[in-house]
Amino acid sequence: MNFPLSRRSFATAASLLPIACSAPGKTVLGGSKAPEAPVASNPLIRQRADTQIFRHDDGWYYAMGSVPEYDRLALRRSKTLAGLADAEERVLWRHEPSGPMSGFLWAPELHYVDGRWIVYFAAGPSGGGEDVFRIRTFAVVCDGRDPMTGNWSVLGEFKAPWDSFNLDSTIFTHRGVRYFSWAQREPGIETNSNVYIAPMKDALTLASAPARLTVPTLDWEIQGFKVNEGSAFLNRNGRLFMTYSASATDARYCMGLLSVDETANIMDPRAWTKAPEPVFTTCKETSVYGPGHNSFTVDEEGRDILVYHGRDYEAIEGDPLFNPDRHTRIQRIYYHANGVPDFGVPVGNGALPERFIPAVHRTVRMACDGTNLSVSDAPLAQTQFRSIEAGEGVVQLSPILKPDHCLVAAADGSVTLAPRATAEASHFRREAGPASGTVRFASVPFEGRALAYASDRLVLGDSYDASVAWLAD
Ligand code: AHR
Repeated sequence: MNFPLSRRSFATAASLLPIACSAPGKTVLGGSKAPEAPVASNPLIRQRADTQIFRHDDGWYYAMGSVPEYDRLALRRSKTLAGLADAEERVLWRHEPSGPMSGFLWAPELHYVDGRWIVYFAAGPSGGGEDVFRIRTFAVVCDGRDPMTGNWSVLGEFKAPWDSFNLDSTIFTHRGVRYFSWAQREPGIETNSNVYIAPMKDALTLASAPARLTVPTLDWEIQGFKVNEGSAFLNRNGRLFMTYSASATDARYCMGLLSVDETANIMDPRAWTKAPEPVFTTCKETSVYGPGHNSFTVDEEGRDILVYHGRDYEAIEGDPLFNPDRHTRIQRIYYHANGVPDFGVPVGNGALPERFIPAVHRTVRMACDGTNLSVSDAPLAQTQFRSIEAGEGVVQLSPILKPDHCLVAAADGSVTLAPRATAEASHFRREAGPASGTVRFASVPFEGRALAYASDRLVLGDSYDASVAWLAD
């Protein structure tokens, strides 16, 4: 008897598998399963843009973002990423009746600075006209140890190098030094905003003059507005990466990438390398438009996660800034062989996808290019498949770039891509594979046979053969 496993419980149970199984249905699961984390789905949080998600050392995931009304700072938390979707949100602070913080509130971020919870955000006055875009960076501070229950009050205004439009601040620590990063319009440079970093002296004061890391000059950075904003930092593989967002906040909004050797002087702009092309853009195949203003976190298994917002339609009526449908989305981050993050494409709505690697040949992956299936070293987006529930322990496997299609098996052992009908030929039972830590997709109509790796092809093979063992990543 096969033990149908959910995707998350499979990963947990199989990792406890004490021995390789020799035949289908003989799965022997050892030990008790670790607590299951539910599989997250996109969009994760509806109508929250510019979202920061981080996992604090108290075990909670905290999330803050711009609300469509731009009138309040709201915080939610959950023990799982998926739980953020419907977690209770607490309003920490609302814009004031008048003055410099009575209008828009943008892109709040929660940070723990010198033993205090502080939320940094951009705010403007409510006077109407262009004055509402007199945006500056401010902070509120909590009087207690729990940001969800403490009292919040104004700490003050960030002391920026110039008295000009500034927003999208974040904090990161590198080699023991805490840095502030923000976007600002600099006198003498004809752009809406550029991105800066500087070490911090205290919560609102810089310890030195800023380093200007990027100015919007490339064609994909100046669509609609000349904008570089929304910086976020990730230290991996001996390098410090900075992502940022560019252009107008419509479907042309996209992400760029800078990187620097982690041992370099990161305050020297010449030490940084700027990618000439955007690293994350609108994807019509997955129906995600204007992805950007990202942050970074990890999932419950410690794997790097990209957090960003994006709409699931392209055409916007009116000013995109006042369109509410920039939803928070998340997806796995993978890495190129040279250690640089590979963000692929925005994966689209639905359960997070996975890659499937033959246990017997780990340099290739299940892939779909157009309607052509293969097992190859294909680009990331062609190797991401969504498991779509089709009954108890039964799934359809759908490539993210062809979300209305799925894998279909045939009696002759061939596997092809076809529209996602309800045909039983597209149903596979996801179960522990014939080797520890692997998964097997047993064909429902063709008993005793499962998805198998056969050189560069995907076929149906005997369920006890090593070729049906896949690593889910
Ligand atoms: O979402 C409001 C503002 O618009 C954000 O601060 C900025 O990143 C975006 O362009």
